[in-house]
Amino acid sequence: MAIDARERLIVALDLPSVQAAESMVSRLGDSVSFYKVGYQLAFAGGLPFASQLIAAGKQVFLDLKLHDIGNTVAKGVESVARLGATFLTVHAYPQTMKAAADARGASNLRLLAVTVLTSYDDADLAAAGYDFTVTELVAERAAQARDMGIDGLVCSAAEAGSLRKIVGHRMTLVTPGIRPPGADSDDQKRIMTPAAAVAAGTDYLVVGRPIVDAADPKAAAQAIVAEITQAAQKV
Ligand code: C5P
Repeated sequence: MAIDARERLIVALDLPSVQAAESMVSRLGDSVSFYKVGYQLAFAGGLPFASQLIAAGKQVFLDLKLHDIGNTVAKGVESVARLGATFLTVHAYPQTMKAAADARGASNLRLLAVTVLTSYDDADLAAAGYDFTVTELVAERAAQARDMGIDGLVCSAAEAGSLRKIVGHRMTLVTPGIRPPGADSDDQKRIMTPAAAVAAGTDYLVVGRPIVDAADPKAAAQAIVAEITQAAQKV
């Protein structure tokens, strides 16, 4: 079933405090229904705040990129499932993915695997002891994630087409690095417009600074949802 355009936009609350996040959520109002909470906010009171968002009817993506021994990952996933989050990221290591997939059980939590961090290139992988290129390792880990019952992948919009061929249509693709036409790319190296990302086959679009740093965040979010709506009609 097609996902509603407004739900396909996930706003990254990369903000230093719960107070700043509360004020942003209240400015965005009904224009946004899905928020991502990452390290910065999670470690500054963001987890109780995530519960409040869920109680208020919003969906939450906890971007905590878990990776530890299986038992520890499993217990962490159980706690996140109880919190009521919609998405949680884990690193795409087989032990970690298996433990997370088993622990999620019948909850509504959907697990997203991070294949290779986008800040890594082939030289970084070699320095970390891998004998694979980034392209090879992304493809291998995507296939493992699919086989282990992981629900989706975090990927760049540029990877969406090739990953679809590996994982098929059952898995959800979630894409950061989105910039509306004419927006500053900030530190993102591989950016795509919302329309191009939708055309490339991504399901959810993660957008931070183009919304939270905008003079009018609500207008910025509404413009992106309008662009998603239009692009989805052409797919
Ligand atoms: O501000 P911006 O739109 O660039 O924010 C993108 C968000 O997506 C940030 O929270 C960033 O940590 C996250 N992200 C990313 N690239 C990845 C994985 C996550 O930009 N490969």
